[in-house]
Amino acid sequence: MSLADFLAALDQLAAEAPGRIAAAGTLDEWTAARNALVGRQAGRLTDILAGLGALPKEDKREAGQRANAVKAVIEAALEARHAELAAAASAAGPALDRSMPARPRWRGAVHPVSLVIDEVVEIFRELGFTIALGPEAEHAWYNFGALNFPADHPAMDMHDTLYLGPDQVLRTHTSPVQVRTLQRYAPPIRVLAPGNVYRRDFFDPSHAPMFAQIEGLVVDEGVTFADLKATLSHFARRFFGPTTKTRFRPSFFPFTEPSAEMDVQCGVCGGAGCGVCKQSGWVEILGSGMVHPAVLEQAGLDSEKYTGWAFGMGPARTAISRHGIPDIRILYDADVRFLDQFAR
Ligand code: DAH
Repeated sequence: MSLADFLAALDQLAAEAPGRIAAAGTLDEWTAARNALVGRQAGRLTDILAGLGALPKEDKREAGQRANAVKAVIEAALEARHAELAAAASAAGPALDRSMPARPRWRGAVHPVSLVIDEVVEIFRELGFTIALGPEAEHAWYNFGALNFPADHPAMDMHDTLYLGPDQVLRTHTSPVQVRTLQRYAPPIRVLAPGNVYRRDFFDPSHAPMFAQIEGLVVDEGVTFADLKATLSHFARRFFGPTTKTRFRPSFFPFTEPSAEMDVQCGVCGGAGCGVCKQSGWVEILGSGMVHPAVLEQAGLDSEKYTGWAFGMGPARTAISRHGIPDIRILYDADVRFLDQFAR
């Protein structure tokens, strides 16, 4: 190789390098360009310098100086381009956004309906009530017949009841647990029966085909309506607050006589009238009454000796009026954003 050839190769590299460097649009392309131009492995400059040894001794000095000069120019251009690309990349921001807040830990929460059930159970536990449970797939006799429903009662209609077979139903209320308890245990009886019940209802803002109830039953000698009123009023003050007013309205249930519905003064408006109490100032909390003698007799008890009272309440309704929830269906969604509000 002659000096002229060596210098011509250098000149060609010097001429091509700026275009090659400018064409690198990313830091990866820049690295590829640097390796191709001045990389030690297979870079163009390295290839040219490999010819240095073959030059005549007197040409080596000039060849070396010229090669170093070209190398310096290329390296300066590479450095300038690298600074430009790095600045553009950091202006666009890092690919991983470390400023995004971490997802908060979901700790779980007790469902608002379960909270109501737990509180009700605790208040009645203090009064000496124990828990009784019964099957959700119930014999029609326990659900209706034993509870003194006349054979043509509309609640037994296909319209209201989910039948599993001719004599088996998904229980429409927790009242059959009254009968099962009376059959199993001798008075004095004080039980609370929380559980799910089923009705052929549409799923709309105020109805659900499945919902929870809490049944209460007291049977003993000498139990009167005064016990019912005193106990349920005490419950209302413990549950809703010490100044809570209650009222009892005459009502009808086949399994109680007399029957009454208990209202509490609306906790949202304090009785002034609002959307939750439909402007009445009162919210219906439960149905209740003196256990009908026929129910005691059906369960094998002497209704001359024993009397009792019972009640049934819907904890979902209570949760709704307590929290001002506009649509009952929210309670049946598994939406953790809703449930998270009840985390304690
Ligand atoms: N079982 C009734 C219902 O589902 C509620 C009820 C009313 C239960 C009066 C009772 C009671 O024990 O005494 O609508």
